[in-house]
Amino acid sequence: MAPVGGGAGDGVGEVLLDEAAIRAEVTRLGAEISSDYADKSLHLVAVLKGSAVFLADLLRALTVPATVDFISIVPYGQVTTSGVVRIRKDLDEPLEGKDVLVVEGICASGLSLSYLLRNFQTRRPASIKTCAFVAKRRERPGDITLHYVGREIPDVFVVGYGLDAQERYRNLPYIARLS
Ligand code: IMP
Ligand code: MG
Repeated sequence: MAPVGGGAGDGVGEVLLDEAAIRAEVTRLGAEISSDYADKSLHLVAVLKGSAVFLADLLRALTVPATVDFISIVPYGQVTTSGVVRIRKDLDEPLEGKDVLVVEGICASGLSLSYLLRNFQTRRPASIKTCAFVAKRRERPGDITLHYVGREIPDVFVVGYGLDAQERYRNLPYIARLS
C-alpha cells in the first residue's frame, strides 16, 4: 500500500548537497572551529528551527568543551526589509563573558543574523562569531560577517537537512531545491 501523502522527498528537485557532501563539510567545520577555540569553551546559540539538524552534527564534530542554547525568532510580516524580528523564545542563559558562536542552518538576506548580532552584543559576550551551514550567494547587510560557512549555494529556495518549506522536508538527509 502506498504511504498516505507520498515519500519524504516528494516535490523536491536537484540535490545540491548529498549526505556525503554534508558529512564532509560538517567534519571540516568542526575541525576548523575546534582549532580556532582550542584553549576556550564554546557557547553555541542555535537559531530554531532550521539549525537543529546541523547543530546536532556540528556538536559531535567539536573537540572543545561546548554548551548549547536556543533562540526562536519570528520575522514581522512576511517580507520586510527592515530586519525587525520578534523573539518567540529567548535564550535560557546569559551571554555575558562567553565565547558565543551563533549557529544558523541557512543565511539568505542576513537580516535575521544582523538583528540577532545587534541584540546579542548588548548582552556583553566575551566574543561572538557566526556560522551558517549554507549561505546564499547574494548581497547582505554590511554589519554581518559569516565566520564559518559549510557551503555557498545559489540564491534559490532549498529544503532538507533541517530546512523547511512550510514546516515540511526538514527530515530529508540532503539539501535540495524545491521543484
Ligand atoms: P535571512 O533572510 O538570512 O534573514 O533568513 C531568514 C530565515 O529564512 C532563515 O533562517 C530560514 O529559516 C529561512 N530561509 C531563507 N532561505 C531559505 C531557504 O532557501 N529554505 C528554507 N528556509 C529559508
Ligand atoms: Mg522556515
